[in-house]
Amino acid sequence: MATTTGKTEELRDLANEHLWMPFRSWVDMERHDEPLVIERSKGIHVWDSDGREWIDVNGGYTSVSVGYGRTEIAQAMRDQMRTLPYWPEGTTTPPLARLVKKLAELTPGSLERTWPVSGGSEANETAIKIARAYHKRRGEPGRYKIVSLKGTYHGGTGVTMWLGRPAGINLSDFEPEYPGMVYAPLPNPYRCEKGGKTPSECSVRCAKALEDLIVFHGPQTVAAVIAEPVCSGLGGVVPGDEYWPLVRRICDKHGVLLIDDEVVCGFGRTGRWFGIDHWDVVPDIMTMAKGLGSSYVPVGAAVVTREVADAFAGEQNILRQALTYGGHPVAAAVALKNIEVIEEEKMVENSAKMGAYFLGQLRGLEEKHHIIGEVRGLGLLMGIELVADRKTKAKFPASLRVGERLVEKFRKQGLLLRTLGNIIQLGPPMCITKTEVDEIVRGLDTAIGEIETELPAKA
Ligand SMILES: Cc1ncc(COP(=O)(O)O)c(C=O)c1O
Repeated sequence: MATTTGKTEELRDLANEHLWMPFRSWVDMERHDEPLVIERSKGIHVWDSDGREWIDVNGGYTSVSVGYGRTEIAQAMRDQMRTLPYWPEGTTTPPLARLVKKLAELTPGSLERTWPVSGGSEANETAIKIARAYHKRRGEPGRYKIVSLKGTYHGGTGVTMWLGRPAGINLSDFEPEYPGMVYAPLPNPYRCEKGGKTPSECSVRCAKALEDLIVFHGPQTVAAVIAEPVCSGLGGVVPGDEYWPLVRRICDKHGVLLIDDEVVCGFGRTGRWFGIDHWDVVPDIMTMAKGLGSSYVPVGAAVVTREVADAFAGEQNILRQALTYGGHPVAAAVALKNIEVIEEEKMVENSAKMGAYFLGQLRGLEEKHHIIGEVRGLGLLMGIELVADRKTKAKFPASLRVGERLVEKFRKQGLLLRTLGNIIQLGPPMCITKTEVDEIVRGLDTAIGEIETELPAKA
């Protein structure tokens, strides 16, 4: 067991005195000798300031897709910084021109014009602005409502925080809600709000409910539907195969734009370049961030189809938005190199292969531990949902703090891992090997086994 050094204490004190971290209380952290201070990294591993080695199971925020420590990415960043660290207003740069071309090639259909931004929330804010502006340009100014799926997450900024009204995030501090939010059921086959008994039945019923909502509100008031192909926040919820084609058809029928949030799913996470590729659907706008640059730098994008972009062609039509760091040449150079690494090392294929293996191993745990209600996922985007009663799918009460207790138990196994209440979220870097999957599964097995003996659960 590594001992806490004076350096760690000093850094911790500085953080607890001055840093404001997401989802953590500095008072609480101080009491529990937190936060961990991470100093070094390589592959799926990180080392803290006391020299302890950890597996960062989710690679940052399910975002360090190619893994830590890729020197060629650092080199690309350094080269670009030395040549051109920023650019004069009204001009562009070689890496950005090459990146937007590359995105047009990788994305499906006529998605071929990119608005570059610095992250996922900005990408979704931009997508919503484009959707609303698109309808105005086309003479339908009444279309402003945005349909999102209940319990999902699309960002932390002004409008995006209201999308989905995400599970586990209390938004009451920020009320009133942004106007025009409409919430449709999430096609979650394990807990289908519409009572569907199979993934297929659930997806058809949820798609029907989404259409009913559009009709109820009046299609002439609805600008867009936004959703992730596979819901990441609730641990890899995969809809039935009917869902995406149906939603595409419903949007077309009612003149509503379809925004596909690929912030997590994009760039190989689900075993295809984009999550939506599993269903051969082409959205009107695709948003991306995390995997675009593997989080080596802040980078994101909203990519639109030629048809959507055409509404903004011409001198009088420009979209009035400017973000100082959108399209930063260093970010573009990193994204290009990151995509090159994914291609050359066949990481999309590895994500499909290792994801299938990982899921198989997790299904083994499902047989062993009666508190596991469901194991789910696609590619390397997976989740384990724990339940108090397998038959009724009853959840453990929040007072038992299952998620927090599990995080502590995972740490004893050397795993840094995220939970959302009773859901364990899994999204490791796409460079992961079979041996590393086995090591994580062993840690999960021990931690789940420990908490199982402590919890009042029915087999
Ligand atoms: C699906 C999804 N969309 C958007 C975002 C927001 O991205 P960012 O944190 O880069 O603003 C996230 C962040 O976790 C996300 O999971």
